Amino acid sequence: MTISNGDALPKGKHGSNNRIIREIISMKKILVLVLLATQTVVFGQFPELAKTPPMGWNSWNAFALEINSKIVMAVVDSMVSKGLAEAGYQYIVIDDGWQISRDEKGKIIVDSTRFPEGIKYLADYVHSKGLKFGIYTCCGTKTCGGKPGSYGYEAIDAETYAEWGVDFIKEDWCYTDGLETQTQYSIMSDAIRASGRPMLLSICEWGVSSPWEWAEGIGTMWRTTTDIQDCFDCIRDWGGMGWVHILEKNADLAPWAGPGHWNDPDMLEVGNQALTPVECHSHFAMWCMLAAPLIAGNNISTMNDTIEAILIAPEIIAIDQDPLGIQGIRIRNNNGLQVWQKPLNDGSIAVALLNVTKSSAPMFVTLEEIGFKNGVSGSVRDLWERRDLVSIKDTFLTEVEPHGVVVVKIKGEKAPVSVLKFDQPSIDLNKDNHKLIKLTVLPSVTPITVTSSNEDIASITISGVNTYRLAAKKEGTCTIKASISEGNLSASCKVLVLPSNIPLPWRLDDIKDDKASASYENGTFSIEGGGADIWGGNDQFAFLNREMANDSYILARVISMTNTDPWAKTGLMFRENNTPNSRFVMISVTPANGITLQWRDASGGSCNKRDFSVPELPVYLKLSKIGDTFTAYKSSNGIIWDLLGEVILTDLFAEKYLVGMEVVSHSSHSLNLSKFDNVKVTPLEK
Ligand code: GLA
Repeated sequence: MTISNGDALPKGKHGSNNRIIREIISMKKILVLVLLATQTVVFGQFPELAKTPPMGWNSWNAFALEINSKIVMAVVDSMVSKGLAEAGYQYIVIDDGWQISRDEKGKIIVDSTRFPEGIKYLADYVHSKGLKFGIYTCCGTKTCGGKPGSYGYEAIDAETYAEWGVDFIKEDWCYTDGLETQTQYSIMSDAIRASGRPMLLSICEWGVSSPWEWAEGIGTMWRTTTDIQDCFDCIRDWGGMGWVHILEKNADLAPWAGPGHWNDPDMLEVGNQALTPVECHSHFAMWCMLAAPLIAGNNISTMNDTIEAILIAPEIIAIDQDPLGIQGIRIRNNNGLQVWQKPLNDGSIAVALLNVTKSSAPMFVTLEEIGFKNGVSGSVRDLWERRDLVSIKDTFLTEVEPHGVVVVKIKGEKAPVSVLKFDQPSIDLNKDNHKLIKLTVLPSVTPITVTSSNEDIASITISGVNTYRLAAKKEGTCTIKASISEGNLSASCKVLVLPSNIPLPWRLDDIKDDKASASYENGTFSIEGGGADIWGGNDQFAFLNREMANDSYILARVISMTNTDPWAKTGLMFRENNTPNSRFVMISVTPANGITLQWRDASGGSCNKRDFSVPELPVYLKLSKIGDTFTAYKSSNGIIWDLLGEVILTDLFAEKYLVGMEVVSHSSHSLNLSKFDNVKVTPLEK
């Protein structure tokens, strides 16, 4: 797999003791409980088909490109004989590697050495077993495995799949330089509709453009991260990672999932090589807590009884498939001792006590923190062991083994909401700036509505669990109000939007990044940007810039940056215009890739780079433009400059161009706050 930057890519025992109780009491004081704003309206690509998260099997994790019809048919047979079909697994999805070329009319040609009977034969076979059939393609010119992609062939591909009887299409994001996610996935989604066959679209752009914010209705599920790896917590240099890290990246995405539209933390690694049985239990349980699509990724034909028992555990699957369709949220994380909760349709709460540490630990949850009255008896059922435990009056306490999980379903007497408040009762915000505000809600399980009294002054969008993003649009005052569905509590926060304090002629452009902010105080610019990257052909970043003509140089000191993503960037840029695929040259500091000089020579074309030594902040940067030649320097004191490198573009920029400071977080769902001072832009004589 290749990712956007030119940088390479793809049970416990139940008991108690006094010390623990004391700890519980002191920890309870500092608990900040969160709540999930639930939405009951059903939207989606084909909502009726994915009221609960899709379940199935996909060939990639176990077989990668070494897939063929024999393997698939054996898996299909085993799905039925080993009880997976009965447990709810439906879709049999062939991932990358089935396609080989296109005929003169553009129709995709199946690799006949691997699939001699063709794909329709397989789809028919799958259907004859009462299951559904899925296939893989890619938005780009090629798939990640180098096979023909669907770019420009979406209509004919959707028609072909419909003809074959496909029910599910996973569409990947390799070889897409210059393309935009929402546009490309919409093309396929429309092609699917036009084909007349309801085929679920599984969006796989690895979370790079925060698909949860736009993909509902276009697809049924969307990957939220780079590829899952067969390990507990490894991280690959190209971005792949173990399930514990993937879980982390999904912890704040609950507001965007629901019936018909699901966050997809990737296919299961349960039953592959590396995870221990304990880790497989935990991985599976946590995917169910996330209301994740359950797509098995192991060899079903050869799996052992332990793995089989995990994959078909009825009461664990029932959490995932609960009709409310609420994605679970984490209510506590104490150095790897994580407590998650998921409200269920019957009024009970599923609770997962997950221990990602290396030693066994006592873990607990209180009735109060999951929305029930303390002091009134609550029932507890162990969902792995499928047995009722002794009821509790306030705290469920158990020992959880290393890397293990205990999953219980608790039901008590519902407590009314007692606390609803914003973390800041009033906010001053400069025009064009953004800020996050959080709500504290106790107990934590209640649907809330949050509105802005004047969207023209400050608009509000969901930005995570109980977290909202304010965007200051026009000077004035407005009130942000939160109320709960029971209607007996409300909270408000006064927002005062002040004039922007950025001195003219500077101007903030959020290039495809609706999270950009900037402010100025005593010679220091603070610029905050989100944005997937300045790379490929579709930049997203914050750009504080001014217009210049002919030749000039810019210099500034980069004081600090907050984002630690290896490829987050903070630096100086010359740019022809503020379109996302404009030509540019920039010199940036990155957290783990040193100073990088990057440029795009042709509008819409891909980018180039040269990396230099790892800098220490603060560092002075200077970039000059003389004709078509751009020269980059760095300095520790702003007096003695080291020449870093030179870039010569093929054509001159237009006479007028933009020059300024650039900030990107390298992920559209995180932010990078950077500070610059000693900023100077100087025209150069011709
Ligand atoms: C990407 C996807 C994977 C898999 C491979 C196939 O890496 O994210 O899930 O489909 O491509 O090449």
